Amino acid sequence: MMRITFLGQAGLFVETSHGSILCDPWFNPAFFASWFPFPSNEGIDRDLIGRPDYLYVSHLHHDHFDPKFLTEHVSKDTRVLLPDYPLDHLEKALREIGFSEFVHTKNGQPQDVDGLRFAIMALVAPTDGPIGDSALLIDDGETRIFNQNDSHPVDLEALRELGPFDAHFLQFSGAIWYPMVYNFPHRMKEALGRKKRINQQARTFRYVQQIDAAHVFPSAGPPCYLDDDLFELNDFNRDPSNIFCDQTVFIEYLQEHGNDRGRLVIPGSVITLERAGMTVRHPVSDQEARAIFLDKGGYLRAYQERQKPVIDAIKAAWPNGQIDVLSSIKERFEPLLALADLTCRGVNARVLLDCRTEQIVIDFMDRTVYRWNGEYCRYRFRIAPELVESCLMQGLEDWVNELFLSCRFQAERDGPYNEYVYNFFKCLTPERLEYAEGYYEEQSPVAELWECDGYLVQRRCPHLKADLTRFAQVEDGVLTCTMHGWQFELATGRCLTSDDRTLYTEPARATEEKPA
Ligand code: FES
Repeated sequence: MMRITFLGQAGLFVETSHGSILCDPWFNPAFFASWFPFPSNEGIDRDLIGRPDYLYVSHLHHDHFDPKFLTEHVSKDTRVLLPDYPLDHLEKALREIGFSEFVHTKNGQPQDVDGLRFAIMALVAPTDGPIGDSALLIDDGETRIFNQNDSHPVDLEALRELGPFDAHFLQFSGAIWYPMVYNFPHRMKEALGRKKRINQQARTFRYVQQIDAAHVFPSAGPPCYLDDDLFELNDFNRDPSNIFCDQTVFIEYLQEHGNDRGRLVIPGSVITLERAGMTVRHPVSDQEARAIFLDKGGYLRAYQERQKPVIDAIKAAWPNGQIDVLSSIKERFEPLLALADLTCRGVNARVLLDCRTEQIVIDFMDRTVYRWNGEYCRYRFRIAPELVESCLMQGLEDWVNELFLSCRFQAERDGPYNEYVYNFFKCLTPERLEYAEGYYEEQSPVAELWECDGYLVQRRCPHLKADLTRFAQVEDGVLTCTMHGWQFELATGRCLTSDDRTLYTEPARATEEKPA
């Protein structure tokens, strides 16, 4: 028997006879106090879930990774089930708050730990979450669930082969700033919102069909917005142009499309899964559970009232002119722009950060940062200076995972969406940027070679794709990638630091054969 307590958003506490797994517990407001779990999970006893056998954090977005909750409530003896991400940011973040026991997984490969069988599907494109998103399969020998949360796996055939599944948990709502923050004309924004709402439900429905689980639990969103500045973003009345449709809307969508497997859960609902069937018990009566969605305005206003002191305290702590924003951005971004060949080519424009007190241009053509002087900028962001300052003072490596997801900004652009712009803001360290650059390069039909010490060598390091034209040092025929120190023999391409990679090399000039 599997017993699953729904914790809100993507949070699950899964209990089996082979141990328990705490998945993506999120309790503290995220992204500059803009996102809160909806419905509220204030009623969950946090200490009751604090000693699981395993912890699974799908990725680093703060509605999945809540360092405050993990620090204060979860035993650091817990073993962490770690997705197979090429960059180790998730492991580092968990180590920083005290976790030290990790079960490293291989992408999509089932493994057993003390009788519990699980597999983690890791998605690793720069566009997947904060460079890395994942889904979890759990099998206790009697029932099997697939916790997709907000990831978008692509290899559905492989997934189906791991089934059949008794339960499928997945995101059905938007979880982004588009189109709300854009200064589009009202009717255009409405049309874009409507299209997005339809597309995201259709995409979720395709996953539901493919996974074909006996029961479908809409989870992992939407959040709700409780700050006065953002309150109107909530979908109060099933607005067809609002991207944050709720669970009940998606369950009805399933029904309209001939699927009656959708099940409503709210934080505190307990799902019992057995071979014989499934039951759901809510922490309140069914009628009270439904009432949350029927009178969402009233529900959210009461929730807002309770959380107001929390929001006020967070906002009061935002910095206020402690640093020089222009010179900090210049110092931080210009060395990155120098590395970002493909990103700069992909953006090929100026980006304006209009921070009220200071207007700053990030020029992806000249690879420089300077004070705005009226130049034309194709992409324009208006952001409160305290938020930019906060990102800089915290040394954030990924501004999407704080600033952009907060929806606390306005945007304008000429022309279509350009993913290189936002991906740059996710990659604010050389390591992240090199990874993204290498990823883009691998998508290009022509893999680049460069000449090094008499050899033509693949340009991207086989470890994490650093650009070897910048990060290689050669001594005695051995190339060292200075990003993490991996070494390769130039004559053979053999890796001296790992046995599962090679570097492509060939002599730069064929040696002239002597005539016989
Ligand atoms: S990218 Fe890690 S050693 Fe090259």
